[in-house]
Amino acid sequence: MKKLLLFLTACCLLPTAYSTAQIITRGPYLQSPGQTSIIIRWRTDVASDSRVYYGSTLGSTANVVDSTTVTTEHRVKISGLSPSTMYFYNIGSTTAMLGEPDPLMYFTTAPDTLSSHPIRLWAIGDFGHGNQEQADVRDSYERFAENEGAANLWLWLGDNVYQDGTEEEYDTKVFDSIYGYKHLMKHLPFASTSGNHDYNSICPWEQPGFCSTHPDEHTGPYLNFIDPPTEGELGGVPSHRKIFYSFDYGDAHFTVLNSELGSLNSNYNWIGMLNSDTSFTSPMLEWLEADLAATTKKWKIVIWHQTPYSGQDGFTDSFTQPYCVATRVHFNPIVERYGVDLVLVGHDHNYQRTYLINGHYGNSGSFQPSMMLNGTSGNPDLGEYYYKYIDGPIKDKGTVYVVEGNSSASNDSSEFDHPAIYWGEACETCYGSFIVDIDGNRLDGRYLHYSDSIRDKFTIIKTDWASANVDERNTSEVFKIYPNPNNGQFTVEYTLTEKSQVNIDVLDISGRIVHAVAAAERSAGKHNEALNISKDHISAGTYFVKLGINGVNRFSKIKIE
Ligand SMILES: [Fe+2]
Repeated sequence: MKKLLLFLTACCLLPTAYSTAQIITRGPYLQSPGQTSIIIRWRTDVASDSRVYYGSTLGSTANVVDSTTVTTEHRVKISGLSPSTMYFYNIGSTTAMLGEPDPLMYFTTAPDTLSSHPIRLWAIGDFGHGNQEQADVRDSYERFAENEGAANLWLWLGDNVYQDGTEEEYDTKVFDSIYGYKHLMKHLPFASTSGNHDYNSICPWEQPGFCSTHPDEHTGPYLNFIDPPTEGELGGVPSHRKIFYSFDYGDAHFTVLNSELGSLNSNYNWIGMLNSDTSFTSPMLEWLEADLAATTKKWKIVIWHQTPYSGQDGFTDSFTQPYCVATRVHFNPIVERYGVDLVLVGHDHNYQRTYLINGHYGNSGSFQPSMMLNGTSGNPDLGEYYYKYIDGPIKDKGTVYVVEGNSSASNDSSEFDHPAIYWGEACETCYGSFIVDIDGNRLDGRYLHYSDSIRDKFTIIKTDWASANVDERNTSEVFKIYPNPNNGQFTVEYTLTEKSQVNIDVLDISGRIVHAVAAAERSAGKHNEALNISKDHISAGTYFVKLGINGVNRFSKIKIE
């Protein structure tokens, strides 16, 4: 039955009783947050029509929206709202509210586009185990929100529930109040992508031939409960599908891809799994290109589930992870062509993130120094920022890829060894989530460990090339190392704009200096310094080269084999 929504005002309604005959079995939760609209969903044990009451104060019944469809799956879209405005709401039917006014039931509309507004995002991945670690990560976010301010938008990076993405699993591990997010969902809208575990109840990845259903026929519990914008109603090119979609929020454009569309049937293989042809395309990739080409938002963020780069245990160099490889080979070139700033993924159960990179689509061994646009930490506390330029020779180039896959489970500890990865952690107590702040020309990313400590942070600044101080320009302009990997013999190439004091140190991963070139004055221009580190003194592994120019340090990771 086609839903009929009615907009009414409280002046014409009789006082409403609280229902005891109908019980909420899921939600309420918020979807598709816009500047003037939002969708509220909930599930009940008994079917009825639907009503949402909302207003500027707790308990307000100043405005109502009805849906006359009799159902247990309630969906009400509120329109005509004001941007950046907080509203309290309550839910029920046209004959009864489902509970007393709840101070946690509120929503805030997205900011208008007339001027720049700061926004905060909270991202979690691989979180639906229904365990204490999941609850601990959730609680650490809530403490963070209490101290520093709440997120506007919540990003789910897939494997939202374990093991198979069933209705019961979502109810007991995600929509529940013990390990899940029942109280947060009442006021924090989420945008979600799906993981392989969500997909086991949609198109099982473990079946022979992987998924053998046309993507447009995919249905299942995950796709039933999400309610994303699919027709460009919140910005972006319409996808006409829930399986991938896009929207604007504040100064950012969000594109949500589906990394689970792998199949041995080429008609259903929309990620290009096991296909190394760089000209490969699919309805999803064609839409991705159109969507990124169309947006004029200052910041571009793309999320999916499978990991393109991992430094732990050769995870993404492995043929056992063909979905991961497909995202790197087929998603990343498009993402980078259109200057996407930040990619958020999960799947590997750790936290890790890259330097500011561009152009790396092969295995870790194919990483070249030219792909490292900035080999510093990006940490603002160290004065090392990632700059992206709105013009000039590397206009719009540079992406940071973050793996946030430890929001309820973590791999065992082992070395992170990938030339694109700046840092990562996995251990028995390594659980966390990821915070993103966008404010004007600045984006800050922070890894929030569940103990409340910030274990990693980086900042991306957008600026124009001409006004950037040469010291602020990304290190690829002044600092290259080749070959990499190497056998201990390599060349450090750097360019000085003026006569400078230069020193070079080689550090192991604990920060110990294993080789040093004494500080000396160098003339302006390009220099090539050959280093030869005896392998008698060091073992094969990952090292950092620190180039100091007039006291400003730049770092680049190398691998000695
Ligand atoms: Fe996964």
